Amino acid sequence: MKTLPLNLHPDRVPRHVAVIMDGNGRWAKKFGWQRTRGHRAGADAVSRCVEACDDIGTEFLTLYAFSTENWRRPKTEIEALMRLLDKFLKERTPEMMDKNVRLQAIGRITDLPANVQERLHQSIETTGKNTGVTMVLALSYGGREEIVDGIRSIVRNLREGHLDEAMITPEMFGKHLYTRYYPDPDLLIRTSGEMRLSNFLLWQCSYAEIVVMEKLWPDFQKEDLYKAVQEYQKRHRRFGGL
Ligand code: IPE
Ligand code: IPE
Ligand code: MG
Repeated sequence: MKTLPLNLHPDRVPRHVAVIMDGNGRWAKKFGWQRTRGHRAGADAVSRCVEACDDIGTEFLTLYAFSTENWRRPKTEIEALMRLLDKFLKERTPEMMDKNVRLQAIGRITDLPANVQERLHQSIETTGKNTGVTMVLALSYGGREEIVDGIRSIVRNLREGHLDEAMITPEMFGKHLYTRYYPDPDLLIRTSGEMRLSNFLLWQCSYAEIVVMEKLWPDFQKEDLYKAVQEYQKRHRRFGGL
């Protein structure tokens, strides 16, 4: 069996890591640059993070890239972010092919500009048969919105007679969420020191281990993922038991 970085325990690698990639704006500010430059640097950190997951055998990586609340930002920043996303998908899809990465997306994707949606669907399709890390981008994503969309889907099924009330359980509800194809995150990482969820994977993170690091997202290195996993491996996950 290959040895993992930092001597990580191969049997206890988180299957699914979720990341709140925060601090791009503050990173740019530190150098007196525009916030957008921080977002650009953040895109490189994404590649490092995916590589690090691949190194240790994490199967799913969900990245919070744009929240439903982020639509409240100035129009110029939103436009810059959408342009950057388009560019990211265009330029990095070959890299995803090289690294055997399968791209997926969750969120209210139809809120995104048409060109970005188009590009996203193309990249998802192109990488669809890859068997390495599944990278899930959360775009126009909100945990509460996702739960509400799940309720709507259940109500539709009830009305059409495909379901009855007694069939509604937590497991079943999970099948009506955007994340129905993925296991729940084992480890949730947030950069930039903020101790909050900011509406990310509210349902799915019920039992995720949380690691908050001070580093700003553009400074995130592969080592930081390994260190977070090392911290995760020290935790005793009880799931309410003893
Ligand atoms: C995270 O960085 C990226 C997005 C939310 C799109 P921020 O843009 O939130 O950066 P800070 O938190 O203001 O530094
Ligand atoms: C969370 O970061 C959203 C993303 C990383 C995409 P924010 O910067 O939007 O969160 P708050 O405003 O600090 O809670
Ligand atoms: Mg932020």
